[in-house]
Amino acid sequence: MSRIPVILDTDPGIDDAAAIAAALFAPQLDVRLLTTVAGNVGIEKTTRNALQLLHFWNRDIPVARGAASPLVRAPGDAASVHGESGMEGYAFVEHQRQPLALPAFEAIYQQLQASDEPLTLVAIGPLTNIALLLIQYPDCVAKIKRLVIMGGSAGRGNYTPNAEFNIAIDPEAAAKVFASGLEIVMCGLDVTNHALLDPLYLAQLPEINRTGKMLHALFSHYRSGSMSRGLKMHDLCAIAWLVKPELFTLQPCFVAVETHGEYTAGTTVVDIENRLKRPANVQVALQLDVAGFQAWVAQVIALAP
Ligand code: RIB
Ligand code: CA
Repeated sequence: MSRIPVILDTDPGIDDAAAIAAALFAPQLDVRLLTTVAGNVGIEKTTRNALQLLHFWNRDIPVARGAASPLVRAPGDAASVHGESGMEGYAFVEHQRQPLALPAFEAIYQQLQASDEPLTLVAIGPLTNIALLLIQYPDCVAKIKRLVIMGGSAGRGNYTPNAEFNIAIDPEAAAKVFASGLEIVMCGLDVTNHALLDPLYLAQLPEINRTGKMLHALFSHYRSGSMSRGLKMHDLCAIAWLVKPELFTLQPCFVAVETHGEYTAGTTVVDIENRLKRPANVQVALQLDVAGFQAWVAQVIALAP
């Protein structure tokens, strides 16, 4: 079976940590590069967290530090959800790992140029690095098979009333990406709010392996859902779609990103009923087989050390 070559852009982030675990240990994927972006916490912390995770799993995948702030807006954060460190709850051991010397968008372009096949980009944080890549290297679109994101929502938001965090932190970047002509799969809150790890599985995690023990320690400090009612695995959905697309129901829609609204900036306007008669530019995930998702998560985490 040929593996899918992937570049993962991330702002770890506790649910990012679970998504990175799944990306590294799913046999269907070949992670070529991790790039970090400011999002849940600042760029130094998200980069440190990415390096700590690769050291935890003793994996030599290159890491490139990305944008420290959105294209034009001031940075936000989600420390209230992930803790001040971005990955509160587990004491990772010291290491000497360093990111590459070049910025994320340059490292992505280098990988695209070196690959003999188009690469899949997965973005599970704000889209700043992806926008910078498109601005600096417009020719890159032909070298990208598709972009799979965790972000957006056809309904309510989780950062503002209408906007999901990853889009709301950098609406200008998201608008650039959604208008780029890239093939995009959007795993938004419509599915990720239902992508729960249930309390029974969470209780079993520490006994499964050292990855389960580490994730359980992080999850105990994660505030999207709860250990008693279930935790929302937003970012894992992007990896799940790549590996088990049959778990998702997608609909091609025209999607625009609001960048000017005083109250609505960061909203993904998802034209499900095609009222604007604009050509679809995004495959939007609207439904998830939750039991199938939960079974897959248990299966892939069990493959980790
Ligand atoms: O809205 C959820 C998204 O925001 C996830 O990517 C989570 O890690 C945070 O970045
Ligand atoms: Ca994230």
